[in-house]
Amino acid sequence: MSMVQYTNLTDPRPGLEVVRGWNDVEQVVLRSPRGDYARVSLLGGQVVSWRNDHGEELLFTSSKAIFKPPKAMRGGISICFPQFGNCGTLERHGFARNRIWALDEEHRPLNHNDNSSKASVDLILKPSEDDLKCWPRCFEFRLRVSLSKDGDLSLVSRVRNVNGKPFSFSFAYHTYLSVSDISEVRIEGLETLDYLDNLIQRERFTEQGDAITFESEVDRVYVSSPNVIAVLDHEKKRTFVTRKEGLPDVVVWNPWEKKSKTMVDFGDGEYKQMLCVDAAAAERPITLKPGEEWTGKLELSQVPSTNCSGHLDQPGII
Ligand code: BG6
Repeated sequence: MSMVQYTNLTDPRPGLEVVRGWNDVEQVVLRSPRGDYARVSLLGGQVVSWRNDHGEELLFTSSKAIFKPPKAMRGGISICFPQFGNCGTLERHGFARNRIWALDEEHRPLNHNDNSSKASVDLILKPSEDDLKCWPRCFEFRLRVSLSKDGDLSLVSRVRNVNGKPFSFSFAYHTYLSVSDISEVRIEGLETLDYLDNLIQRERFTEQGDAITFESEVDRVYVSSPNVIAVLDHEKKRTFVTRKEGLPDVVVWNPWEKKSKTMVDFGDGEYKQMLCVDAAAAERPITLKPGEEWTGKLELSQVPSTNCSGHLDQPGII
């Protein structure tokens, strides 16, 4: 962290630039030396902004977003835990995205290679008494969000079964990418994979096309996907490269025109400017025995499309 200039705005904790966001909830600002920027809200541990060194916002946020629980702000990257989807009595996409997280004072290094050229923040979520009533599992969820010196954004989640019985959960980094025009976008890396179609009761199909393009509503879970996929924005001449670890699936979602009109926190035509591509563990739950820990990583980078050839061949190491 030594390469990053921090300004201590409102917080006595050293090394953190903290601003007050919506509803007075704290947001931590991360900056790279060359001017990339990210902001993470303690509400949900949600990344609410990621900008490149030209000041361009790379994550979509709806102009009609509602910054108030019990639903996550429509945009950015929200954490779906302990479930992805809508099952039983748990909140849709789980409660983690609607809770206030704490700064993790322990700040444990992840591994020996964790270099200091990243600006990072560590957050922690522990269940409240109310959470334990609706989901009686003893867990600790640690989230590290980092911005590299080249502007790459990474999120590392670690869920630990602290005590008690084994438990299972599903998970997703619900990631709203900002795109110029959805009709000009394609995804590479998911071809020939099986997917579960959420629009047809999770029926299983096999992807046939060369690359995935968009001309109507899409809500699919691509199962057992490669760890590196690319989202090419033809008009912007920009490619997002997604690298993941510990997360077998990729969820692709665009509500398109008709569904958009039913969503109160989403503008009618905004489906053209966004695409959700979520690294996830959605098909099969993750099970942790007492004392076990699971790690799920996501790294996002953006490169000019002309420079991206070969990215899909790289292993998904973050
Ligand atoms: C996607 C799901 O990831 O999230 C969709 O696959 C869902 O089914 C969408 O509609 C948005 O969910 P929410 O709860 O944030 O409105």
